[in-house]
Amino acid sequence: MLKVAVLGAGRIGQIHAANVAASAQAELVVVADPVEATASSTAQKLNCEFSVDPYAVIGRSDVDAVVIGTPTDTHVPLTLVALKAGKAVLCEKPLDLDQDKANAAIVEIEKSGRPFMLAFNRRFDPSASEIKRAIEAGEIGDVRQVIITSRDPSPPPADYIRRSGGIFKDMLIHDFDMARWLLGEEPVEVFAMGNCLVDRDIAQLNDYDTTMVIMRTASGKQCHINTCRHASYGHDQRIEVFGSKGMLQNGHVRPHTVHRFNDSSTDAQAPLLNFFLERYKQAYELELDAFIEAVETGSKMPVGADDGRKALALAEAALKSLEKRAGVLVD
Ligand SMILES: NC(=O)c1ccc[n+]([C@@H]2O[C@H](COP(=O)([O-])OP(=O)(O)OC[C@H]3O[C@@H](n4cnc5c(N)ncnc54)[C@H](O)[C@@H]3O)[C@@H](O)[C@H]2O)c1
Repeated sequence: MLKVAVLGAGRIGQIHAANVAASAQAELVVVADPVEATASSTAQKLNCEFSVDPYAVIGRSDVDAVVIGTPTDTHVPLTLVALKAGKAVLCEKPLDLDQDKANAAIVEIEKSGRPFMLAFNRRFDPSASEIKRAIEAGEIGDVRQVIITSRDPSPPPADYIRRSGGIFKDMLIHDFDMARWLLGEEPVEVFAMGNCLVDRDIAQLNDYDTTMVIMRTASGKQCHINTCRHASYGHDQRIEVFGSKGMLQNGHVRPHTVHRFNDSSTDAQAPLLNFFLERYKQAYELELDAFIEAVETGSKMPVGADDGRKALALAEAALKSLEKRAGVLVD
């Protein structure tokens, strides 16, 4: 049994803590959050200890691994202290918003020799992993194009946007990771467009709510990512991979599979699952399983710090492309 502490008991921390508590391979020892009411109510629900001091929790000898679900600007300091204390770390994305800081942290992470995984949960979504398996099995031949649609049901509050690092580092970071993973090659050129079509206030924060990104790899494989902070019909998450011998496409995930036919519509289905906590529920569970298995067996982490660095480099390239109104080469 891997003894785990979860740091941060907000939206994502609650998910991780519940998954650790439910895991047969792990024990949830303690949850830490500086907001005492948040820490204690989570601990009460999941039957573990709580603390308001994440660093004291990291120092505990009865904790083997730490799951970091705290705000982004705390990821690097908490990770480095935890690795130094000999703990395994599963850290939420992004590692940091600043490329230089993230790069410096990666050097330290690698030097520590301790297990570290970055939480790009979408790789563990059963449909995404089936698409990856089929590509690797040669079922669609050589990949030519990857098309990713990622639209949220509604934009986050202005305060979240203000601290988020912007849509490319906050939202598309998942899509950049997915693109690299499915292309099987690094994108070398990025062309991005960004506009505010949902909420003009987002423009006041120097951010965008609607984007399109086109990328190519050195061998000429292409990728198109389109995102929006608002889709009236719910959380729209689709992937299409087109290859020399066929195409792979995932479908929407719904609470049930019933189709309704009546005098105003045919083939009508239940609404899409509401947002990422529901849509990627299984992915978060499988992500934790993969982390625990890699820690227990000493095998390579399925997602490393370098994956975080490369996704962040694509986000930086997209921002530069917008500024220059031209395609830019990835650093
Ligand atoms: N992988 C995903 O699908 C996904 C989804 C949402 C958020 N995230 C990432 O997870 C992180 C947290 O996002 P969220 O939406 O859960 O935020 P949130 O604001 O809901 O929760 C953050 C929690 O961390 C606590 N906290 C602040 N500083 C802390 C510290 N030093 N130690 C321990 N706890 C601390 C806060 O009190 C709060 O309860 C962000 O980096 C975000 O990018 C990832």
